[in-house]
Amino acid sequence: MADHGYDEAMAAFYDAMAAEHAGDDSAFYRDLATASDGPVLELAVGTGRIYLDVLAARVDADGVDVSPAMLAVLRERAAERGLDPTVWEGDMTALDTDRQYDLIYCPFNALQHARSVDDQQATFASVHDALAPGGRFVFDVFVPDFELIAETYGEWQTERIDLEGNEHELRSRSRIVDEPRQILAVESRVLGPEGEVRYETRQRLSMLPYQQVELLARDSPFESWSVAGGFDGSDLEDGDTVQVWTLEPEA
Ligand SMILES: C[S@@+](CC[C@H](N)C(=O)[O-])C[C@H]1O[C@@H](n2cnc3c(N)ncnc32)[C@H](O)[C@@H]1O
Repeated sequence: MADHGYDEAMAAFYDAMAAEHAGDDSAFYRDLATASDGPVLELAVGTGRIYLDVLAARVDADGVDVSPAMLAVLRERAAERGLDPTVWEGDMTALDTDRQYDLIYCPFNALQHARSVDDQQATFASVHDALAPGGRFVFDVFVPDFELIAETYGEWQTERIDLEGNEHELRSRSRIVDEPRQILAVESRVLGPEGEVRYETRQRLSMLPYQQVELLARDSPFESWSVAGGFDGSDLEDGDTVQVWTLEPEA
């Protein structure tokens, strides 16, 4: 998946952006990881926003990500905290590991970077093969919200982020770039204090509404699954913004 879009520009401001948008996922995944009996793997580990806290909690944790730029930031942050990460460059559609994990988790919409049904099916199969008996696969993806799409897509949104000790302007725009397949592109620009463009980047994601995930789960080697409407475990209901899925292989 060469065109993942997580280049050096994205890696440079990812943490500042995620600090504004990621919500209350960190504690949820850290608690899952610390409660696991065996090793855990974060899929699409990025800059280690969640992974480094899991590692600091003394969990036997690995991470994989397709982007060398994101992993380079992760390694820097780990060194600053005196942590020793086990992460490697790899694609979630074809996990290359000999380990059997008790938990594989994939936070913050990262699964939506698998944009074709082939890639989505391959990811589910690949994760299934890397799980120990009794293990589980947990991930969250957003609920496509038609009102939000109608109101904000195509329009530049502006916010302030704290980057390198200075306030910067982050402009971002989401657009549907393939309507039949429900693929969106998110463009971002970071402007420095003088209004100069510091970073510019673009990622593409697939919408993964509930019924598509359910079909993928039914088609996968997983035996059972459940979904919550948030990180508090509540039922998925109309109006929820996030779907938190748990898939389990045959015991
Ligand atoms: C939204 S970030 C999530 C990073 C981190 N898990 C977090 O919660 O902050 C998405 C990550 O997915 C990674 N990614 C995209 N496509 C991927 C693929 N096919 N295999 C592995 N990682 C991928 C990107 O490089 C990026 O680091």
